[in-house]
Amino acid sequence: MLKALFRVKPVAPAGHIDAGEPFEGSLDGESSLKRTLTAKHLVLLGVGAVIGAGIFVLTGQAAANHAGPAIMLSFVIAGFACAMAGLCYAEFASMMPVSGSAYSYSYATLGEAVAWFIGWCLVLEYLFASSTVAVGWSGYLVSFLTGTLGMPFPEQLAIAPITWANGGFVATDGIINLPAVLIVAAVSGLCYVGITQSAFVNSIIVAIKVVVIAAFLGFGIQYVDPANWTPFIPENTGPGQFGMDGVFRAATIVFFAYIGFDAVSTAAGEAKNPQRDMPKGILGSLAICTVIYIAVCAVLTGMTHYTLLGTAKPVATALEEVLKADPGASVGWLKTAVEIGAIAGLSSVILVMLMAQPRIFYSMAKDGLMPKIFGKVHPKFHTPYVGTIIVGVLACLLAGFMPLSVLGELVSMGTLLAFATVCLGVLVLRFTRPDLNRPFRVPMFWLICPVGVLACLFLFLQSFMEHWQIFVAWTVLGQLIYFAYGFRNSKLRQKA
Ligand code: ALA
Repeated sequence: MLKALFRVKPVAPAGHIDAGEPFEGSLDGESSLKRTLTAKHLVLLGVGAVIGAGIFVLTGQAAANHAGPAIMLSFVIAGFACAMAGLCYAEFASMMPVSGSAYSYSYATLGEAVAWFIGWCLVLEYLFASSTVAVGWSGYLVSFLTGTLGMPFPEQLAIAPITWANGGFVATDGIINLPAVLIVAAVSGLCYVGITQSAFVNSIIVAIKVVVIAAFLGFGIQYVDPANWTPFIPENTGPGQFGMDGVFRAATIVFFAYIGFDAVSTAAGEAKNPQRDMPKGILGSLAICTVIYIAVCAVLTGMTHYTLLGTAKPVATALEEVLKADPGASVGWLKTAVEIGAIAGLSSVILVMLMAQPRIFYSMAKDGLMPKIFGKVHPKFHTPYVGTIIVGVLACLLAGFMPLSVLGELVSMGTLLAFATVCLGVLVLRFTRPDLNRPFRVPMFWLICPVGVLACLFLFLQSFMEHWQIFVAWTVLGQLIYFAYGFRNSKLRQKA
């Protein structure tokens, strides 16, 4: 039994892959995914997935409650862990251009049980993140409609019927978070139709959000008062509140802002030239987002004292504060633009997350660890359409009815474990399969891989200590499903 649990799936080095060539083979006679994405699409997919609720919502609260102006340092720390993981993802994605991402990489290196566990963690990352961001999107939309446009919107239709308070569920006045359900349904429809269409829409949205952020930086910098940056690290006032302790706590919160660059690797099965372009997509999007984040934090905390930023829309709040101090300042239009940019920006995060999840299930179904239905590919659109529908329905239910505050941290925990496993996997495979063709190699792997594992585990533990019960419950549920279905139907085990 132990042998079966830790059996690894053999890795076949990938030859050159031409567009349209069904590299992944087919599942029970089904057609495979279509190879259409270029390096540019992949970088845009990454930026589309990364810039979202993290910067538009969480940054302000992390600065106000944990790090002060040193939130910039928190972004550097979280970005460092992501850079280590990004290099490892780039090596794997160029060597094994398949849709399963961290799941497939762990299957090839650490065995089936670990692969299942990571696949299960990725559900936390993609499915739950898409719902969490949809709830944030709904908040921005409703505030834009009611505040900026003066249109009424019934509150009962904008919040979930239950919330989490004092360690339990309590009823709210809400019936359903309707905007969140509608955006998930619309985006799922797009994912159903095709990856090229999804990538096209994503490119437009990314352009909007990058232009809005550039405008914020360009105009906002004129209102920066360097006095707001002192003290850079406010004095510690309790566990996780300011001082270096607070900077690290904030790093675990803003880690959420980086999630998504790894989703690029789930499109590897649809990239035209994955060996050359996956590293560009993963590392390029990560580098662009890191620079943008640190610049936004610098301007944000320079424009407004950090104590005022603890709102659900800190970027708009900073502009409101400028207007309060100087009613003649011409930033009213920029505030509206920021709100529109956030609404657009959050939709592309939902899009990439909802594209990624069915592709993980697709890979798991091909290995027999998930029901075959998840491996069905649409004959015309070449998308994993049944998985897309199932994931869409689940995401609608979560977004419409569940309180998602704690889930943001669950998303980060699942992602950090996946990142740590990918770093470990690169290290293991360098020793077990040194012969494999690696179009991209992690430099100084003997240093970067272990440091990546430790950095991700360090951030994981900060969250785990607070929310360990929910994480353990999620893991137990995953193990039950694995032994009830995956273990019995594993193709690797049946072949043995
Ligand atoms: N990185 C994504 C966001 O910040 C998940 O919304």
